[in-house]
Amino acid sequence: MAVIPKFSVFPSIEAPSMGVYLALALLGLGVGLISSYYLGCIIYNVYFHPLSKYPGPRLMAATRIPYMQVVIGGRYAQRLKELHAKYGDVVRIAPDELSFIDGNAWKAIYGTRPGHSQKQKDYRFYTPTVTNTSSIIQSNDIDHTRFRRLLSHAFSDSSLRGQEPIIKCYVDLLIQRLHENADNGTKPLNMVAWYNYATFDIIGDLAFGEPFDCLKNSEYHEWVKLIFSEIKFSAYANVSRRLPASKLLLPLITPKRVMTQKEWHRQLTTEKVMGRLEKNNERPDFYANILKHNGTEKGFSVGEMIANGSTLIIAGSETTATLLSGVTYLLLKNPRVLAKLQEEVRGAFKSEAQISFESCNRLEYCLAVLTEALRVYPPVGVGLPRIVDPQGDVIAGEWVPGGTIVSVPHLAAYHSPKNFTDAEQFVPERHLGDPRYANDSRMVMQPFSFGPRNCIGRNLAYVEMRIILARMIFNFDMELDPVSENWMDHKSFILWDKPDLMVKLKPRTKLQ
Ligand code: HEM
Repeated sequence: MAVIPKFSVFPSIEAPSMGVYLALALLGLGVGLISSYYLGCIIYNVYFHPLSKYPGPRLMAATRIPYMQVVIGGRYAQRLKELHAKYGDVVRIAPDELSFIDGNAWKAIYGTRPGHSQKQKDYRFYTPTVTNTSSIIQSNDIDHTRFRRLLSHAFSDSSLRGQEPIIKCYVDLLIQRLHENADNGTKPLNMVAWYNYATFDIIGDLAFGEPFDCLKNSEYHEWVKLIFSEIKFSAYANVSRRLPASKLLLPLITPKRVMTQKEWHRQLTTEKVMGRLEKNNERPDFYANILKHNGTEKGFSVGEMIANGSTLIIAGSETTATLLSGVTYLLLKNPRVLAKLQEEVRGAFKSEAQISFESCNRLEYCLAVLTEALRVYPPVGVGLPRIVDPQGDVIAGEWVPGGTIVSVPHLAAYHSPKNFTDAEQFVPERHLGDPRYANDSRMVMQPFSFGPRNCIGRNLAYVEMRIILARMIFNFDMELDPVSENWMDHKSFILWDKPDLMVKLKPRTKLQ
């Protein structure tokens, strides 16, 4: 009888050894323990955490993941607006973080009061400096006082007056270039780029003693392009710093291009600052006063000069250009307001030469237009986070435990119907005493922030914005190109990630 061989479709498998069983059991135990730990944290965060009484989405109370998603996705400012519209004045936006839109919160969070010193910034939120040293924005209180003292000289009224000829020369060049490029109003121009060219050249000159030649060449300087990557880098840095092993993680989650550009940025900033130090000349710029204290303990180290140089350029140019782009768009969407502004500016000046810092101060409606643009489209749309002192504090009437991260988000606060009548409308008259807006919350509007760390460049920003807007209105009739009809809907990474704003500029006739 034939023997039928044993046959199996499966290859023979040896029984696993005890070691494998043990390893699998340990793995299962590990996964179980970690899952139980995280599950325990989630249950604690949602139901037993001291912040659990505050309203907000459950998922945001449970873990920081939803926060990280909106930050990386560039929708943080808008999401905060939606959340406050749904949940009210205080919203829990992460297990240990609250967002406030009541005007009283500014003083408690960003100011100082008897018994309460400044609340520390949550540095995880901020872009790391280009060197290992701190800059005015990311410094401890002692360094901050030293930086602020030497820098504030450059932002005083008398320095501003000294800077007027420098600023005017770039505004002249902006207007000249726009005339050359506008093709009598037939060719739309990207005003985001043109305002950026002007503000970067101005800040370049005030910081480093030379412009970036953006206006001269009608294009962005390589260095300026790097700044845009720097702003996006802030979102990756913010998210990675909240995870374990963040130093290892940051290079992994940040796109390689952004990391390379960051290194170029550091090298170019160093070159620029060293160039300014070599000039060592007397001019009313940001470094003049710093250099007087060179080598003393009040002065800046070279690393600090580089870190601060980079901060001043980013803080002082992108913000102002953003507001100018925003106000241009808002004016073109609101013909009534534009007509009133044209009447004021064109009625006040017979010739362009009459438009100066001083004469612009008399343009009341122009100032109200800019203030309203700061409300509707604040250049810093998000909230800048601070940490409550260990003993806890009362913020806008609410007890908040120590260690909680707190902030006032500009866009959400300024668009809340609780704070402003017709909050979504662009109405400069609300800043000129119109009784319809008597109940608006004036105190909630702090687009330049509040307290000892508020914007040092506020006055510079105002003179730049006033003179550029007045000269634009004096020179051109503007028309929004249909491609930019919905321009204001865009992402934000601390600052707005602005798309092109296409505008036709028709020169007014019979100008002197
Ligand atoms: C519309 C224009 C501007 C807006 C809306 C604006 C807004 C702000 C805000 C909200 C802060 C607070 C940052 C924080 O708390 O971390 C700030 C700080 C700062 N801004 Fe501005 N800014 C503008 C223009 C300027 C200009 C023209 C400069 C000039 C260089 C400038 C330089 C600075 C500096 C150096 C700080 C840090 C101040 C400190 O920590 O003591 N800003 N700005």
